[in-house]
Amino acid sequence: MNSKTAQLIVDGHTYELPVIIGTTGEKAIDIKNLLKESGYITLDSGYMNTGSCESGITYLNGEKGILRYRGYNIEDLAEKCVFVEVAYLLLTGELPNPKELDQFKNDMTRYALIHEDMIHFFDHFPPNSSPMSILSTMVGSLHDFYPEMDFDEDPYGGITTATARLLSKIRTLAAFSYKKSIGHPLVYPRADLCYCGNFLNMMFNRPNIEYHVEPLLVSALNKLLILHADHEQNCSTSTVRLVGSSGVRLYPSISAGVGALWGPLHGGANVAVIRMLEAIYADNGDFDKYIKMAKDPDNPYRLTGFGHRVYKTYDPRAKIIKDVTHQILDTMQIKDPLLDIAQELEYRVSRDDYFVSRNLYPNVDFYSGIVYRAMNIPTNMFTVMFALGRLPGWISHWQEMHMDKENNKIGRPRQIYQGIVERPFVVMEDRP
Ligand code: SDX
Repeated sequence: MNSKTAQLIVDGHTYELPVIIGTTGEKAIDIKNLLKESGYITLDSGYMNTGSCESGITYLNGEKGILRYRGYNIEDLAEKCVFVEVAYLLLTGELPNPKELDQFKNDMTRYALIHEDMIHFFDHFPPNSSPMSILSTMVGSLHDFYPEMDFDEDPYGGITTATARLLSKIRTLAAFSYKKSIGHPLVYPRADLCYCGNFLNMMFNRPNIEYHVEPLLVSALNKLLILHADHEQNCSTSTVRLVGSSGVRLYPSISAGVGALWGPLHGGANVAVIRMLEAIYADNGDFDKYIKMAKDPDNPYRLTGFGHRVYKTYDPRAKIIKDVTHQILDTMQIKDPLLDIAQELEYRVSRDDYFVSRNLYPNVDFYSGIVYRAMNIPTNMFTVMFALGRLPGWISHWQEMHMDKENNKIGRPRQIYQGIVERPFVVMEDRP
């Protein structure tokens, strides 16, 4: 604990506020006693300058484009691990040894099925329902199908039955919702396939046409899920923490996180990017039209896939995904015109002062959709893919929050009231 303090002078009083320094040198002024001592709160719409917690899970450096999970650089994890190893790392703080990995993979196999009664739910969603609303509903309903998880021996201790169940079943829920949406028979998980291979098989295998699980696509999917696995206090993770802080169990908290991720400013951006690229392509590559709209202060249009609240340089994940995109399309000899559109757009943006002066670079969502297209994953499922990746991050933050006994309070921000101060209640003459 350092002894450094910050001074706040207000109404002629000087308040000494503790300063907190993180292990990487990040600095914060601790204002937990500010209201009690000074009568003032702080105001910070969108929490641009406000930390909600101290965490040991993920570190971002927005200026240098650094992303580390539990101290490991994302480049190393994406290159040298499979997704279930990284999920284990996020949840427990350590990479699994061979025995632990084997046990975890067995858990993923063991918990891959969903309760058969859940399958009837899929028949009652309206046609063309959003896969994200289906996922949020189905994840929330796990609470009622597996009530025993409420009595987990140690609900916050890393790999619990509840977490293993959810990590495994989310694949099945996603794949089953896709199969139901196209009227195909469900393909059940298999014991002989890995985490990502099982997902691809459940998505694309059919009774009448043998589907070969391509190692190249399995490797690419592992990388994509690793790159999406956590990102400190982003909107959806903060949602999971806030909902979980009320004392509600894991599954409803994650269901809320799925809803937050759905937004086009957050995880929904990977769908919006493809729609933008398709629009530019349909407009015969009229880049200037879209760039002009994005720069127009009176136009709410944004070049989706660009910009980030934290990264003020190239998102390190976008770099890796761009490489994966080229590797997949080149190896599979796929010519996707949207990749050409995306690269030309990136080129033009990178030389346009409006974007350069605002540090607007491609983020994780800019190229990911092109890889998913190469995997034949439908566009409306791209944000579901983001949720599959982000799940271990959400769970690890939910657990970390509950394990922090000293600071684990229900999240309840304050406000500054700007409404009518008071007025008498006058009964209107013609009131019924
Ligand atoms: C994710 O938080 C996370 O970590 C999220 C995420 C994760 O892993 O969880 O990384 C995943 O959500 C990535 C972001 C996906 N969203 C998009 O791609 C949507 C497009 N991007 C923008 O809407 C925006 O950049 C945000 C939402 C990502 C960040 O918004 P901020 O931090 O609130 O920044 P801002 O809107 O205040 O923008 C600052 C300036 C503004 O211009 P001025 O008022 O200074 O003139 O930059 C402009 C904005 O108009 N700007 C853009 C732009 N993004 C910002 N202008 C055009 N196109 C854009 N994409």
